[in-house]
Amino acid sequence: MVTRSLLMVVAFGSFCIIRAQTTDASCLPFYQWMANSHKKSPCEVASALLGICADSYNVAALPPNTHYLGPTLKLANPCQCNTVAYSLMSACGSCQGRTFDSWSTWSANCASVSVNSFPEPIPTSVYVPGWAYLDVKTNDTFNELLAKQNANTTESTFIPPPTSTSTKPTILLLLSKTLQIRRVTRAQMPSSEALSGVWWDYPY
Ligand SMILES: *[C@@H]1O[C@H](CO)[C@@H](O)[C@H](O)[C@H]1NC(C)=O
Ligand SMILES: *[C@@H]1O[C@H](CO)[C@@H](O)[C@H](O)[C@H]1NC(C)=O
Repeated sequence: MVTRSLLMVVAFGSFCIIRAQTTDASCLPFYQWMANSHKKSPCEVASALLGICADSYNVAALPPNTHYLGPTLKLANPCQCNTVAYSLMSACGSCQGRTFDSWSTWSANCASVSVNSFPEPIPTSVYVPGWAYLDVKTNDTFNELLAKQNANTTESTFIPPPTSTSTKPTILLLLSKTLQIRRVTRAQMPSSEALSGVWWDYPY
């Protein structure tokens, strides 16, 4: 008989005007190495990154015998469908003394995935630990040991747009502004499902 384990899905898109990192998950002291240079836990960094595609993304603390689930088919977005978010969410589960899914399970509902990269620009004052960019595909899992060995590798953070007076970048800038506006418009119309809080799931 299959063990019945209670799985938990994280809320994404609890509607909020201010985009903020929200989490009540806290890491055990043993996992301090997972924190970034600004002492932010992987749960906080994950929440900040996942919040880029939603208006906010709450990473709720995991009760015993639960773990974070990847995105649903309906709500899968680029912020979730990448190995960086997967690694951070896996680390977030692990640092609470819980388990985490395999990469293939996490990304099962993703139409496309970004591997070893995060597809969106990183917001100011968000620092993504270097270990979050490590390979998870080869072994189909977040490798905690490898991550720890790479605890002090260079972080990724906000890259200021280049300042230039030539014509081409201006066009690009205008283009990217248009895209930003379109993205904002889309983000401001979340589905009713995206507005609700936390999902619970009981797969057997
Ligand atoms: C994959 O697993 C092998 C055997 O456990 C390990 O030596 C290797 O470092 C792992 N690679 C990654 C990228 O996790
Ligand atoms: C990372 O840096 C901290 C603080 O300097 C140090 O204690 C730790 O051993 C380092 N970890 C690795 C894997 O180099």
